[in-house]
Amino acid sequence: MSRPRYGRGTLRRDLAAAVRRLEPRPGSVLVLLDRRAAVARRPIAAALADAGLPARWISWSASERRKTLAALERLGRAAVRAGVDRRSLLLAAGGGVTTDLGGFLAATLLRGIRWGAIPTTLLGLVDAALGGKTAVDLPEGKNLLGAFHPPQFVIGDLALLRTLPAREWSCGLGEVLKSALIAGEPLLRRLERTPPADLRRPGAATLRIAQDCADLKMEVVEQDPRESGLRKVLNLGHSFGHALEAAAGYRRLAHGEAVALGILCALRFGEDAGLLERAFSTRVRGLARRLGLPAAFPGRLPATTDLRRLLQRDKKARSGNLELLIPVRAGEILLLECVAPAAAAAAIRRELGATPTPDASA
Ligand SMILES: NC(=O)c1ccc[n+]([C@@H]2O[C@H](COP(=O)([O-])OP(=O)(O)OC[C@H]3O[C@@H](n4cnc5c(N)ncnc54)[C@H](O)[C@@H]3O)[C@@H](O)[C@H]2O)c1
Repeated sequence: MSRPRYGRGTLRRDLAAAVRRLEPRPGSVLVLLDRRAAVARRPIAAALADAGLPARWISWSASERRKTLAALERLGRAAVRAGVDRRSLLLAAGGGVTTDLGGFLAATLLRGIRWGAIPTTLLGLVDAALGGKTAVDLPEGKNLLGAFHPPQFVIGDLALLRTLPAREWSCGLGEVLKSALIAGEPLLRRLERTPPADLRRPGAATLRIAQDCADLKMEVVEQDPRESGLRKVLNLGHSFGHALEAAAGYRRLAHGEAVALGILCALRFGEDAGLLERAFSTRVRGLARRLGLPAAFPGRLPATTDLRRLLQRDKKARSGNLELLIPVRAGEILLLECVAPAAAAAAIRRELGATPTPDASA
């Protein structure tokens, strides 16, 4: 997959060009569209008409609660009824839930068809739509059923973000903060210097930052497409974040918000273990505040035992122990292996637990 170049108001032109380049030419196109991303409908329809490709549409209402096997089956059956065949192209237009589920649908439909991603959230543009990880959730945890199935192309058009609610901007900015910590000084400084209001609208500043984050992700993915080493760095904030997300429920804590809290917990772990300078964590916490990211757990934080159990569900856990990523300097992320879940749970409590909850096993 070539590196995507993002634009504003460019979806029709870029999509038509991308489908024309496909070899062999798709026989038909199936568009999976998130209803709340209706802003994408017209430019997609126009692009496919320009390219002379027949399109069938499946609309759905995306949400983390619906990123399930049941939804996959329902949408798969709808795709078959719509006449999908091996030469069909699936387009997934929506946020990370739609591109994760749509990509997995493409990976499994007829044993695999080609697909293209059209991210319509900031989180999708900077992270979720890129790199070919596709999945649905299981009741036991997030993204537990999935496949590596890279899209043929990712078309990013910032104009699609004009209908994005404020909370979704925060979610995207959580992943932007993660990318900046990995990328290092230039992106961190750009974030610190951009007026916060400009980071919450689809203007030139957001375009530049989204492009930088996408470039960073693609650079990492190209070196390690199946996450055997370097790509793990992109999970910064996620071991803590997934546990917090499951503890709070997806409605109360969205993915990007959980990642932001996960980064704060990782900083706390690193600080308390003497792995990083306080000046660095103060700087990152200040930037997180400036970006309007959450700093508190919504509701009552679970007991340490429960946090430990949730942390152990992490896909990266090995023999019950965790791999933790700790940002120690701009552009430098430390990978700690074999961390006891109890130590990670304790860091969450120190960071987010105002009043200690009794731990049954203590
Ligand atoms: N595959 C990966 O590498 C990867 C990386 C990061 C995150 N993810 C996944 O991404 C998901 C989170 O992505 P998300 O935050 O985009 O979630 P999402 O798809 O649920 O979108 C968030 C909300 O915004 C709405 N929405 C989407 N586009 C809109 C628009 N243009 N205008 C108005 N509303 C719009 C959606 O309907 C939804 O309510 C998680 O499931 C996470 O696991 C995947």
